[in-house]
Amino acid sequence: MATADATIEHAAGPTTPDGVDVTCVGVSKWFRDFWLRPRVRAVEGLDLEIRRGEIFGLLGPNGSGKSTTIKMILGLVSPTAGRIAVLGRRPRDVATKRQIGYLPEESYLYGFLSARETLDFYGRLFRLPAPIRRERIDRLLEMVGLDAVGHRPVREFSKGMQRRVGLAQALINDPQLLILDEPTSGMDPVAARQIRDLIADLGRRGKTVLLCTHQLSDVEDVCDRIAIMFGGRIRTSGRCAELLAEESATTIRTPPLDPAVAGEVRAVLARHGVDPVTVERPRRRLESVFLEVVEQARAAGVTTSGAQAGGAVPDFLRGTDEAVATAPAAQPAQPAGGVDTDLIESLLRKPTDDAGS
Ligand SMILES: Nc1ncnc2c1ncn2[C@@H]1O[C@H](COP(=O)(O)OP(=O)(O)OP(=O)(O)O)[C@@H](O)[C@H]1O
Ligand SMILES: [Mg+2]
Repeated sequence: MATADATIEHAAGPTTPDGVDVTCVGVSKWFRDFWLRPRVRAVEGLDLEIRRGEIFGLLGPNGSGKSTTIKMILGLVSPTAGRIAVLGRRPRDVATKRQIGYLPEESYLYGFLSARETLDFYGRLFRLPAPIRRERIDRLLEMVGLDAVGHRPVREFSKGMQRRVGLAQALINDPQLLILDEPTSGMDPVAARQIRDLIADLGRRGKTVLLCTHQLSDVEDVCDRIAIMFGGRIRTSGRCAELLAEESATTIRTPPLDPAVAGEVRAVLARHGVDPVTVERPRRRLESVFLEVVEQARAAGVTTSGAQAGGAVPDFLRGTDEAVATAPAAQPAQPAGGVDTDLIESLLRKPTDDAGS
């Protein structure tokens, strides 16, 4: 029952250890039918801890309970059982909400408002003064590559452009905790790559990010830790680097090998009992081919009515002072398989930058 759910959450009360922004202990959510019988067990006995400044990936197939977990952390849905603390308070606390940015899995935008008006609307909800709103809106529209189309009603935007508005909206209040549900869905590979770099940069600035996605490359590139859900439960969790490390093989990467040399290498390995050995030409990632094609079109002067490439994370999104002081210089996240960084950077530059140089 809804009232009982709320009572459980309040009776337990929140407690959060230092340096931890989200704690879930034994959290369950059962959706009930008209007669209040449990109909769907969306989340079951979930334990989760997200530390300050980390990028945490929540993965799982459709219906595994990711969005329900996010909604409970946001205080939009009450848990049936268990305890949740967010930034040291209850999820429904107004002071908590002020420090959270949320990009929902569906873009709920007012179609008749322009991108600029949409951001202004959310800025007003957070009671930001007009000069700060103006400054942040300019910077965020630049960041997501929509500054040239900021005056157009968002109903005219493509799905990926609407996701970009959603991401800018989630950052207007300079949140400590950023919760992103499928941030790159509907985005082209250049935009998705840029959003991954922005998320990584926000993490380096000390923001805490909860990233829920089906795009496993998003996760591989930016997440510090991940959890994989199935049937409402976390099936595995841990540091991304540890979970992805393959223990049972070694890769030796060389320039293209002459077949005779490859044969000698095989013979040496065979003498040491290493068998089987696979020698093959590695494949390029489709992402790098795609980026190259788009770059060629741009270099040929082909114009687009869509979003521009976008820019860097604006300065007002600073994160905590300590994190800024200790953060290494911002580097774009490198996907496995080696994408050409010069190419990426040239794509992320705006055409006007080229014209000016
Ligand atoms: N308001 C609701 N009423 C009834 N059942 C719900 C409700 N919201 C979610 N569910 C059910 O809870 C389960 C988990 O849903 P949830 O949206 O959390 O999954 P998800 O992991 O986010 O999936 P996806 O990858 O498709 O977004 C599903 O079986 C879903 O049908
Ligand atoms: Mg979902």
